[in-house]
Amino acid sequence: MEFTAIKGFKDILPDDVATWQALEAGTRRVFGAFGFREIRPPLMERTELFSRGIGQETDIVSKEMYTLKDSKGRGMTLRPEATASVARAYIQNRLYQKNPVQKLFTIGPMFRHERPQKGRFRQFHQINAEIFGDPGPQADAEIIVMAMTLLGQMGLTELTLNLNSLGCPDCRVAFRRELQSYLESRRDALCADCRRRSETNPLRVFDCKVETCREVVETAPSILDFICGPCRAHFETVKSYLNGVNTPYLINHKLVRGLDYYTRTTFEIQTEKLGAQNAVVGGGRYDGLVKLLGGPDHAGTGFAMGMERLVALLDESRKRPVPAPDLFMAVLGEDAEQKAFNWALDLRRQGFGVQLEYGSRGLKAQMKRAHRVGSPKVLIVGEEELRKGSGILRDMTTKQQQDIPLENLVNELTNILSDHE
Ligand code: HAM
Repeated sequence: MEFTAIKGFKDILPDDVATWQALEAGTRRVFGAFGFREIRPPLMERTELFSRGIGQETDIVSKEMYTLKDSKGRGMTLRPEATASVARAYIQNRLYQKNPVQKLFTIGPMFRHERPQKGRFRQFHQINAEIFGDPGPQADAEIIVMAMTLLGQMGLTELTLNLNSLGCPDCRVAFRRELQSYLESRRDALCADCRRRSETNPLRVFDCKVETCREVVETAPSILDFICGPCRAHFETVKSYLNGVNTPYLINHKLVRGLDYYTRTTFEIQTEKLGAQNAVVGGGRYDGLVKLLGGPDHAGTGFAMGMERLVALLDESRKRPVPAPDLFMAVLGEDAEQKAFNWALDLRRQGFGVQLEYGSRGLKAQMKRAHRVGSPKVLIVGEEELRKGSGILRDMTTKQQQDIPLENLVNELTNILSDHE
């Protein structure tokens, strides 16, 4: 039997890892400049954390969670997103005691049992940023421009920022009533799930992928006609901060996002290059979440970026090539191999990249290999060289060769390779 990875789970192969690392390094640099600190919560949590935090009626909780039972029969779930976990950590570790405003980020895998397709996986990775304890619109504007800054620095510019406000629980009452009566009037066109949702959680009808439901949503009332004075002022300030730094956006009143915890600002950064899975970044404000999860009444706002989608967008030219070694050792014979083993270790301890292959392949094959891996220099040592006490160092660009005494080889090579850098 040949094992293959589970459907929707995939390997990130060595050729691609450099791109991932560049993305992670860029994240740490940019987020650090914005005052964010890294947190690493566990990958598994009690199921109720997600069902309560994200919402029972959402697709994520109702269909997509990987849940198993522990020996006591309690549900544990592989995290489908990071916000609920980070909020749990903020509460449990009383991070707010030192400073109520905490800016936290985390990078890692998430798990959702969705139908895999281009840009959609069952294990995928997110770069996730959250600000707790700051209810102001500036915090929303700040995380949006932080996301845009990272994307810009990665060379991703052809993106559209969609912006909406979902108001607060107070102003949503009137909207909910209006939406329900609209959905009632179009009940025949709704799928069975949406008929139920229109009574329990009508906002979730906006997430439905069924064609007829999407048509119904097209002409649904707009939340922006219902938001209260303070929510409107909050939204206007977010917009004016974005305008102030020339960050263009599109107002999209249908952007309700697929999770129940959102209040006020929501946003998505979308691309046209990835087909149906067009959201690269999704986020927004969730002022009630920390309290809902048993913590103090502290505000929250944040976003997550899908790393697979970002990597897919980075064009080939930005992908990092495999790094070449500083030196290739072409060695022939057991004695030479054993000596080379020591020399290589000494050089590698100093940080030089050294490549050698054991098993007495012929010199020609080893030179070919050195050329293929792009090594600028090759040390050639066979029985003859050992006898003479002097190896050959070949410069692969100029093709010049020089004799190099084996006695003090590591020091000699250290000097030569340092000059070359
Ligand atoms: P989300 O919209 O569910 O939000 O996911 C955010 C991003 O993760 C998406 O825009 C997409 O790039 C990526 N993503 C989601 N599902 C998949 C998948 N199956 N395969 C590949 N990529 C995927 C959240 O997760 C919220 N926790 C974001 C947030 C943080 N809101 C406030 N703070």
